[in-house]
Amino acid sequence: MELRHLRYFVAVVEAQSFTKAAEKLFIAQPPLSRQIQNLELELGAPLFERGSRPLRTTAVGHFFYQQALKLLSNAEEIKLITQRAGMTERTIQLGYSSSLLCGLLPRIIYLFRQQHPNLNVKLIELNGMEQIKALKEGRVDACFGRVRISDQAVKRVLLREERLVVAVHSSHALANLRRAVSLAELNDEQIFAYPPQSGLGYASHVKSLFLEYGLEPKRFNALDGLQQALGMVAAGEGVCIVPECVKMMQFRHVNYLPLADSAAVSPIYLIVRNDDEGRYARPLFDCVYQVYDLEAIEYDRRVF
Ligand code: BEZ
Repeated sequence: MELRHLRYFVAVVEAQSFTKAAEKLFIAQPPLSRQIQNLELELGAPLFERGSRPLRTTAVGHFFYQQALKLLSNAEEIKLITQRAGMTERTIQLGYSSSLLCGLLPRIIYLFRQQHPNLNVKLIELNGMEQIKALKEGRVDACFGRVRISDQAVKRVLLREERLVVAVHSSHALANLRRAVSLAELNDEQIFAYPPQSGLGYASHVKSLFLEYGLEPKRFNALDGLQQALGMVAAGEGVCIVPECVKMMQFRHVNYLPLADSAAVSPIYLIVRNDDEGRYARPLFDCVYQVYDLEAIEYDRRVF
C-alpha cells in the first residue's frame, strides 16, 4: 500500500462517487476503481457498501478513512518541514499570450507564489503554436493561451470566454457613440491584429469572427504585437480588436468600445502536457478559480 492509494481512497470517500473523485484526481475512473479494489483485496475487507448511492463507507471503511487522514496529514507535515529545512527551490516555466498580462495573470501568479513560496515562476511570452511547441519540447511546464489548437501531446481546458472590444482613435466617427459597435460597422476599416504568423493565431481568430457573420474585411493587417497594433490605432491609422482586459492599456487618443456581436469573445485556456497528471495543472487551476471567486467571475469548473 502506498500513500497514493490512501489519497485515492480519501478522495472517493469525500466525493461519495468514483466519477467525481477521478475528475478531482485527474485520472480516469477505471484505474481508480481498480486501485480501490486492490486496496480492498489487500485489507481483506470491503471499504464501500456495494450499490450505495451516494457512495457510503462500510464500518471498516470508515475506520480506515480516519486512519488514512491521520497518515496523510503526517506525510504532508513531514514534506513541508523538510522542504522548509532544505528550501528546495524550483522554477515553473509559464507560457502566456501577451494580452493576458493586462488582465488577471499577474494576480494569479501573485497568489500562486504566496501559496507555493518555493516555486519560482518564469514567464515566457508565446503565441498559439509556439505554446504547443514549447510544451512538447519541455521548454515550458504550462501555458495560458487564447488559441483553439488541439494536439495529442497536450491537454487544454477552457477557463472562460472573455468579451472583445474595439480600440479606435478618439477622432474616429465611432469613438463617441454611446452604444456597442458591430463587426459589420468595422468591415471597411483598416484592421490591425497580431501576431503576423499565419495559421491558428489570435489574428486568424479575429478574422474568422468577421467570416462567421458573412463579412470579409478588405484591409486586414497582422502586426508584430499588441503594443504595435495599439500604437497604430493611437496614430489614427486604423482600429484593433482586443480582449476587454486590454482596456487598461491607456494610449493617448485611443478609445475602447464594446462589440455588440455575441460571438465577439476570446477563449482563455490552460494548457499542459498530457503527462502532467495534475502536477502543475492542479495548483494553477486552484489559483485561477480562487481569483475568479474573488472577482465574482462566473466559470464552469472543468477538469481534464
Ligand atoms: C483570465 O483572465 O481569466 C485569466 C488570465 C490569465 C490566466 C488565467 C485566466
